[in-house]
Amino acid sequence: MTDPKPSTNDILSKIRAKNAAAATPAESAPADSPSPVEPQTPAAPAAAPKGTSDILAAARAAAKPADAPKGTADILASIKKPAAAAPAAGGAAPKSPADIMAAIRAKAGTAPAAEAGAAAPVKAAPAAEKVAAAVTPGMSAAEMIRAARSASDGVPTPPKVALPSKPLAGKAPAVASKAAAADVTRRSALGDVVALLLSPVVIAWGAFLTSLTASGLAVARFMMPNVLVEPPTKFKIGPPNDYAPGTVSTKWQAQFNVWVVNGEVDGAQMIYALSTVCTHLGCTPNWLEGEQKFKCPCHGSGFYKNGVNFEGPAPRPLERVGIRLAEDGMLEVDKSVKFQKELGQWSNPSCFVGVA
Ligand code: FES
Repeated sequence: MTDPKPSTNDILSKIRAKNAAAATPAESAPADSPSPVEPQTPAAPAAAPKGTSDILAAARAAAKPADAPKGTADILASIKKPAAAAPAAGGAAPKSPADIMAAIRAKAGTAPAAEAGAAAPVKAAPAAEKVAAAVTPGMSAAEMIRAARSASDGVPTPPKVALPSKPLAGKAPAVASKAAAADVTRRSALGDVVALLLSPVVIAWGAFLTSLTASGLAVARFMMPNVLVEPPTKFKIGPPNDYAPGTVSTKWQAQFNVWVVNGEVDGAQMIYALSTVCTHLGCTPNWLEGEQKFKCPCHGSGFYKNGVNFEGPAPRPLERVGIRLAEDGMLEVDKSVKFQKELGQWSNPSCFVGVA
C-alpha cells in the first residue's frame, strides 16, 4: 500500500511543527531523558513530497535561519554543492534540473525512511532509478525534464526512435568497398594477362607465327605477276569530221599520249596520229599553235606539224601510231603499232586515214 500524496499544507504544517519542537528541546524532553539531543533529529514524514513546490518548501524549512535560501537558484546551488562532491566518492553529479529534482525526491523519500526502518526505501528508490534510467546523456534539457516527469509519475516514457544521423552513410562504404573489390579483381586479371603475354613461351610463339605469316605473304606476292595498269592500246577517237583539216588536236594527249593531225602529206589530205614521245630522250613536246610546231621543253627540239624534226637534238621525226576507220565510222587508234618515217613506214596505209 502506498501513502496518499500529502498536500502542501500538510507538509508545511509538519515542517513547522518540527521546527517548533527543535526550538524548545528542553521543554519537550522529559526530566529523566538520557539524551536531550534526540528531539533535534527531524521526524520522518508520512510520505515523500512529490511536487516541486513541496520540495522547495521543505528545503527552505530544513535550512538554518542564518543561511536560509531565498530563491530557487539558491536552493539548486546548495543542492549542487553536495552533488558535485559525489563524483569524488564514486557517484555521478546531476547534469540537468531533472536529475536534480530526481535526486531531491530520492533523498526526501529515502532519508526519513532509513531512520524509520529498512522496508521504507522500497517506495522512493525505484522512482530515482526510473528517473536515472529515463534520462540519457544524449537528451536535450526539455527531453530530460519530460522523461523525468514521466518516470516520476509512473507513466512509461515513450520509446525513443533512434534515427540514423546519415541514412546513406551506411550504403556508401558498401558501394565503395564493392567498387574497390571489383577494381582489385580487374587489376589482378589485367596483371595476369600482362604476365601471360610477357612470358617467354608466348613471346617465342608470337615471333614464330609472325615470321611464318610474313613468309607466307611474301611467297603469295612472289607467285603473283607484276602487272602494270596501263591505258588500252586501242581506242576510238570519234568520227573524222571531228578533226578539221589543217588542225592538230591535243584532246588525247593526256589520256593516250597521241596527237591527232588532219593535214596534207605529199599532196594528199589525211588524218594520222603522232606519238607524244620526243625522239631525243623521251620528253613530251608541246604543240605551239602560233608557231605551228611541236617544241620539246627539255632540249629544245622542234618538229613540224607532220612530225618531221627540224631543230634541236632530236635525231629523227616523231613516230606515227596505227589508225583506221572502224566499221562504225569511228576512227580507231592502235598504239601497239609504230611507224617511223626514216624506215619508210609512213607510206603504210595503216598509219593514216585519207579524207576528201
Ligand atoms: Fe626532247 Fe631532248 S628530249 S629535245
